[in-house]
Amino acid sequence: MLRTAHIAGLLLLLLTLGCREDPTGTDPIDEGTITGPSNPTPYVLEVPEYFPSPVVDPENPMSEEGVDLGRHLFYDASIFSTEGNMSCATCHKQELAFTDGFGRAIGVRGEPGPRSAMSLVNLAFNPNAFNWDGSEQKLWQQAIHPVENMLELDNDWQEVIRKLRNHEDYPARFRAAFGIDKVEEIDQELTVKALAQFERTIISADSKFDRVVYQNTEFFTEEEQLGADSLFFVENVPAGVLHPGCGHCHNAPQFGDNKFHNNGITDVETIYDFVDKGRGDITSNPFDNGKFRTPTLRNIALTAPYMHDGRFETLEEVIDEYAAGGHGVENEDPNITGFPISERQKRALIAFLHTFTDESLLENPEYTAPRE
Ligand code: HEC
Ligand code: HEC
Repeated sequence: MLRTAHIAGLLLLLLTLGCREDPTGTDPIDEGTITGPSNPTPYVLEVPEYFPSPVVDPENPMSEEGVDLGRHLFYDASIFSTEGNMSCATCHKQELAFTDGFGRAIGVRGEPGPRSAMSLVNLAFNPNAFNWDGSEQKLWQQAIHPVENMLELDNDWQEVIRKLRNHEDYPARFRAAFGIDKVEEIDQELTVKALAQFERTIISADSKFDRVVYQNTEFFTEEEQLGADSLFFVENVPAGVLHPGCGHCHNAPQFGDNKFHNNGITDVETIYDFVDKGRGDITSNPFDNGKFRTPTLRNIALTAPYMHDGRFETLEEVIDEYAAGGHGVENEDPNITGFPISERQKRALIAFLHTFTDESLLENPEYTAPRE
């Protein structure tokens, strides 16, 4: 009895609500309401045991739906560029370990920008320094600027958000990923957070180096072993011996140290003369001029040209430069010493660098453009 009375009461209430005049003149269930599932499923990032724990970002917990949304956005040229011809994937191509093959990235206007597109592998292990100069501390915030770069001057983030809100699929995807109710809740922050969730899933951990050193399922060739032991890594090197010592800065397992160094490649008179000041522009400390973040060497054989401005075409040129030693400006890293290297040793070092290539990354179906 009581139940029936309740339901009758509820019906009455609904009826009266339905009859009431809406003061704003819009329908009570207005067009901005998004329907569909809204319980994001936590995403479990699978990390090999030989990697450190991924950095957790409490501001951007990952979900299956968030990763899926980010993947759609990453590949969607119709949303991000005015001409509909450019997406994140234009400069970050899976088959090139998420780089673009250019020395300096080519923007929407067809002009090269100042720097080389970076590989996007293993970003989940980078605690706080994105871009060559560490200008961004959070992965999700990093994505704000590339979007602006993909747009013409009369176009901006407002336009991107307008397109997303009016899209036939995206509102439901945002609701699924972030549990939002209204299209107006789709904003810049959720968009870049979804992009970051997808980027964090891109893991490269199955190179020959990993299989030999961590998985114990393969062996280095004699040449690769020579490159590893007596050239790249720094253990067993007697003090005072000039040695490539790449592992001082490019240390395993990511072959980067998330620190900033002047690795001596630029010929300048003083620390004030660098064209691209790199870290110095971020800290305003002239001693940081010409310093850049040590990038990962994972998949390095696939990501030529090299350095922040793509100045070297080949790994051989890179090694010749390091072997020649730096140009001697005062903030050059003390580990840039120059060293003798024979042709045979150079081949061995290059052979070892090739063991960082992860073929499975290049075809991993989780990272390709989504089918639907
Ligand atoms: C025009 C080419 C281009 C496009 C398009 C582009 N990027 Fe980049 N990306 C770059 C360049 C160049 C850098 C290095 C920037 C710097 O250091 O100043 C970079 C750096 C990055 C980094 C830093 C990686 C690291 O290890 O620190 C991330 C992450 C990234 N891009 C993600 C994205 C996302 C997400 C999009 C789409 C919203 C995107 N990029 C679109 C060229 C591009
Ligand atoms: C003092 C630290 C340090 C040492 C030692 C060092 N590197 Fe680097 N490496 C860097 C930094 C910093 C950069 C980025 C510099 C830039 O872009 O201007 C870099 C860039 C590179 C790049 C280009 C990566 C890319 O994505 O474009 C390669 C390849 C490389 N190093 C290989 C080596 C090799 C091989 C050795 C040993 C012979 C070595 N490095 C020794 C710090 C170092």
